[in-house]
Amino acid sequence: MSGLIKISPSILSADFSKLGEEVIALEKAGADYIHIDVMDGHFVPNLTIGPEVIKKLRPLTKKIFDVHLMISPVDKFIKDFSDAGADIITFHPEATPNVSNTINLIKKEKKKVGISLKPKSKIELIESHLEQVDLVLIMSVEPGFGGQKFMPEVLEKTKKIKELIDKKNLKTEIEIDGGINFENCIEAKEAGANVLVSGSTIFRENQGDLKKNIGILRTN
Ligand code: DX5
Ligand code: ZN
Repeated sequence: MSGLIKISPSILSADFSKLGEEVIALEKAGADYIHIDVMDGHFVPNLTIGPEVIKKLRPLTKKIFDVHLMISPVDKFIKDFSDAGADIITFHPEATPNVSNTINLIKKEKKKVGISLKPKSKIELIESHLEQVDLVLIMSVEPGFGGQKFMPEVLEKTKKIKELIDKKNLKTEIEIDGGINFENCIEAKEAGANVLVSGSTIFRENQGDLKKNIGILRTN
């Protein structure tokens, strides 16, 4: 099973005074994706980084930039994040007046499309779009901050989405994001997630041994 599992460390928990070095270190430590949390202080109560920072990080690594847009409005920024070097652009359906239009804007940039559900957001918000997206990001914390506690109630939703994807014979990835640690990563995988996002566990556990922590999440 671990062969299918991808680890996407969230740089929200990285040292923002040296983000470049941190991204290079994550690549060396075996990250599959680099999870970049973009927050606008409007869709979520926190403010982080924008396209300019991603543009500076882009030349440092070939790793996939898994960009999680917790912003609204979102459509007017898709091209900026695409030009900055995002590979997967994930948005929240509640952040746009027209989900199909936002999906098409991302596809027009030839980027992979991710759609994200907050813990209380219902599957119905994305069910009819499953065929059009490459990744479903299931949030297991309320978006806005790293270091929060995993919300196990989202595992039920994860299982349902996995069933839908399998029934429709889709190759859509299921990414789980928020409060993932060495224990709950097991049930997250069992529920059907194949991409695990982690910030605090990867950067804090085992004195910040990135390679060790990524390895444990992957193989547990
Ligand atoms: C929260 C972000 C998550 C967060 C994960 O809004 O979307 O990606 O950074 O960090 P941890 O693993 O510490 O919950
Ligand atoms: Zn995230």
